[in-house]
Amino acid sequence: MILQDKTIIVTGASGGMGKAAVALLLEEGANVVGCDLNTDVLDEFKDSPGFMEYKGNLLEEDTVRDIFKATYERFGSIDGLANMLGIAQSATSIDDVSLDEYRKIMDVNMTSIFLTCREAAFYMKKQQQGKIVNVGSVSTTRPRPGLQSYVASKGAVEAFSKALALELAPNQINVNVLHPGPSDTNMLGQFSAEGVNVDESKKEIFEKSVPLGRLLKPEDIAQSVKFLLSDQTNMVTGSVFHVDGGRSI
Ligand SMILES: NC(=O)c1ccc[n+]([C@@H]2O[C@H](COP(=O)([O-])OP(=O)(O)OC[C@H]3O[C@@H](n4cnc5c(N)ncnc54)[C@H](O)[C@@H]3O)[C@@H](O)[C@H]2O)c1
Repeated sequence: MILQDKTIIVTGASGGMGKAAVALLLEEGANVVGCDLNTDVLDEFKDSPGFMEYKGNLLEEDTVRDIFKATYERFGSIDGLANMLGIAQSATSIDDVSLDEYRKIMDVNMTSIFLTCREAAFYMKKQQQGKIVNVGSVSTTRPRPGLQSYVASKGAVEAFSKALALELAPNQINVNVLHPGPSDTNMLGQFSAEGVNVDESKKEIFEKSVPLGRLLKPEDIAQSVKFLLSDQTNMVTGSVFHVDGGRSI
C-alpha cells in the first residue's frame, strides 16, 4: 500500500489508461478522484470509500477549480495529480488539417494540463509537497507522418512539465512526464488514417514497432504512474519517463 492516505486526482479517468490507474491507486490505499467527460464506466468504484468521481470538461476553468476545491474539502489534502486525459489525431496530411482541428488537439492535450497543474500548484504549495505526472507520448521522439498536431501538443506537455518542475522545486513539488508507447486502448485505433483497417494497423504497424514485442497494456502505464506518485520518487523531478517497450530507442 505505497499510496496509503494520499489523495490523487486522475484526469481522463474513464479512458483505458485512466481507469487502470484509478483501480491501481485505490488498491494502493489512495483516495482517488476520477474526472472525465463521462464517468459511467467508473460506477464499479462507487462503493470504494476513498473514491469520488467528477464529471466535467477539463477545458473549463471553473470546472477545474471545482474539482480541486471539492477534493480538498472532502479529503483535506491533494498529494498527487495524474493527467491521463487526451485526444488522438487521425493521421492526416497537414494540407487537410483545419485550424479548428489543430486548436482542439492543442486545447485538450495541453490547455487542460495548464489548467489542472495551475490548480494543483495552488494546493500543493500550501502543503509544501505534491507530485504531478503528465502523460505525453512516445511520438514526441518517434513521430509518425500525419500526426503533426498531436505530436506538437505532446511536445508542449513535455516542455511545460520540465519548466514547471524547476519552478515548483523550491516547494517540494515534483513534476514528471510519462511517455507511453503504443497501448491497447480505444485511442490507438484513432491514430489510423481514415479508411485504414484499424485491427490490421494495430498489429502490423504499432505492435511491430515495439522492441519488447507487444502493445503496452493500460496496467503497464498505471504501474509507472503509481511509482511516480509515490515516495519512492521523492528526488525525481523534471524527468521524462519512457514506458514504451523500447519504442523510443
Ligand atoms: N493509447 C496509446 O497508444 C497512447 C500512446 C501514447 C500516449 N497516449 C496518451 O495517453 C493518455 C491516455 O490515453 P488512452 O489511450 O487511455 O486514451 P482514451 O481515449 O482511452 O482516454 C482518454 C480519456 O480522456 C478523456 N477526455 C478527453 N477530453 C477531455 C476533456 N476535455 N475533459 C475531460 N476528459 C477528457 C476522454 O473522455 C477519455 O476517457 C492520453 O494523453 C494519450 O494521448 C496514448
